[in-house]
Amino acid sequence: MNRYVQANSSSAASVDEITGHRRLRRNRKADWTRRMVQENRLTVDDLIWPIFLIPGHNRRERIEAMPGVERLTVDQAVKEARRAADLGIPALATFPNIALDLRDDIGSNSLAADNLINEATRTIKKAVPEIGIITDVALDPFTSHGHDGILKDGRILNDETVAQISAAAVVQADAGADIIAPSDMMDGRIGAIRRALDSAGHHDVGIMSYATKFASAFYGPYREAIGTGGLLKGDKRTYYIDPANSDEAVREAALDVEEGADMLMVKPGLPYLDIVQRLKDTFAMPTYAYQVSGEYAMIRAAAANGWIDGEMVMMESLLAFKRAGCDGILTYFAPEVAERLART
Ligand code: PBG
Repeated sequence: MNRYVQANSSSAASVDEITGHRRLRRNRKADWTRRMVQENRLTVDDLIWPIFLIPGHNRRERIEAMPGVERLTVDQAVKEARRAADLGIPALATFPNIALDLRDDIGSNSLAADNLINEATRTIKKAVPEIGIITDVALDPFTSHGHDGILKDGRILNDETVAQISAAAVVQADAGADIIAPSDMMDGRIGAIRRALDSAGHHDVGIMSYATKFASAFYGPYREAIGTGGLLKGDKRTYYIDPANSDEAVREAALDVEEGADMLMVKPGLPYLDIVQRLKDTFAMPTYAYQVSGEYAMIRAAAANGWIDGEMVMMESLLAFKRAGCDGILTYFAPEVAERLART
């Protein structure tokens, strides 16, 4: 016996004395015990799949900063919706990349009944009625400056934007959208959209509020995906929340709950799990997180370099959302995860 062990066994306290015979490793000793004590599980019901749309027919475009994600023409989106429904994914979230000449200062195309997002909703709903369609009403895909609202003299106009997105919400609901998800962070938008939907008879169309959307640098690849990256002038800090703030996020969500939101969302995801946990604990509402494009890109890039096991990190990151209290996650990994879950 060497001197270290000797010293330990004679004079120092034994581990049993230290732990009082409590040993947490007992429950971790085998796969079956680990399964018995597992607190959170990711299932296919937790997945919402955001997809990108382009005009035209039978085309798919790669997105450089989002390997594995493609922009899809509506017919291709229908195919993916079929695949998603067959995998058991409950819902899609759709984002259009419209022609540049359709974009203007006020995002007029957002109100067109036959615009790309509405055409996609109509076509997908007809072909795959069992999948939920979640549409965003923020104006950024439709404006020539890439902002989520109406821009005048360098300012984003709140009330004018709220009026327009409320009208856009009705047009989207008319096309068959099941849930309206406003991501623009204008004040009063949830109440205004609720009223507009109800007056148009859309009582069953829900609102998933991007309740706490932070002015984040993690959105970069998304802006490439919908073609606003080169257009955006300035930043969105006059309407998105400062990443430094947590109480403000709770106040923001409180207003949305009061105004009639059916579900809350936190965006981005993984760096903001503390916000997810606070919202879930405070409001006990269905709570979602958006694992955004930059989060997706980081995992893909590290995996492509062989620096992490991409599949394991993908699964672990999504489980972390569940642990924090999420009822679901918007993630570009959705079909891949669903396929993996179906295998195991
Ligand atoms: C804007 C919007 C953003 C995302 C979806 N809608 C953020 C932005 O461009 O400022 C980000 C999604 C992602 O990064 O995956 N209304």
